[in-house]
Amino acid sequence: MRHLISAADLTKDDAVRILDTAEEMARVADRPIKKLPTLRGRTVVNLFFEDSTRTRISFEAAEKRLSADVINFSAKGSSVSKGESLKDTAQTLEAMGVDAVVIRHGASGAPFRLATSGWIDAAVVNAGDGTHQHPTQALLDAFTMRRRLVGRDAGLGQDLAGKRVTLVGDILHSRVARSNVDLLHTLGAEVTLVAPPTLLPVGVGSWPCEVSYDLDRVLPASDAVMMLRVQRERMNAAFFPTEREYSRRYGLDGERMARMPGHALVMHPGPMVRGMEITAEVADSERCTVVEQVANGVSIRMAVLYLLLGGQDQTAQQTAPAPA
Ligand code: CP
Repeated sequence: MRHLISAADLTKDDAVRILDTAEEMARVADRPIKKLPTLRGRTVVNLFFEDSTRTRISFEAAEKRLSADVINFSAKGSSVSKGESLKDTAQTLEAMGVDAVVIRHGASGAPFRLATSGWIDAAVVNAGDGTHQHPTQALLDAFTMRRRLVGRDAGLGQDLAGKRVTLVGDILHSRVARSNVDLLHTLGAEVTLVAPPTLLPVGVGSWPCEVSYDLDRVLPASDAVMMLRVQRERMNAAFFPTEREYSRRYGLDGERMARMPGHALVMHPGPMVRGMEITAEVADSERCTVVEQVANGVSIRMAVLYLLLGGQDQTAQQTAPAPA
């Protein structure tokens, strides 16, 4: 693996390897000193052209736990506001000696362009591009599902075959939905999308999943239900759904959650809009994994960076955490 641009690029073996490596990395979080020397002397730049809380901070935490030198770049306050291009920005950073670029960009395809244009030699990791892909989010979601639905140790080497995952909400604008559909399909899960017709993309019929407009019918057959935020910032105001009508048909409240099997998870990639797609009662319930997903994101991002930068030329014994 040279870059991580899309969940669709991962084979089942690639994905399971990342999930298994993340289990090793998660053990580091249980240690008094949460650090490995794996990326000592390597430099990673976090290049964020769009706002982020979870992804930016968890990449930074992952890089620091692997002992990398970290450079944080935010487009706000940079020379991007003076018209500097992505190419010139990236080449400026690489001139300072960068081994990997973690990029979030509003334009779908920006990470692919950076990885394939020849502008830079560094490994590129997509931290979310437009409405296209967010592969590390899909990996951390799959990691959370595997831990909860298959088992933490029993899950090692396993995929998600036969698990039924429902994604609910603004599929049209969601890079999380696209990445999850790709990765969950690769891992053998059965995915159902539930959304208003206006928030489904043209061509969704060719995606490897089912589509439904009836959340109440789908919930009893779900092992995990992932609620998605309505991305108003990517919509024309004329197309905003009203909060009340949206919540009534597509929101998850306590009554709806009671329709789910007892073991089923409620997931959300964050940020949540409480009251719109999910009530506070559900968001704060024991079966909601939103905080666990954030914690798992650090382990997944450590695994991805380790496999991209540290894994090829160092043995697992030298770099991976010792078994607990
Ligand atoms: N899930 C996610 O990508 O959140 P942020 O936008 O806060 O990074």
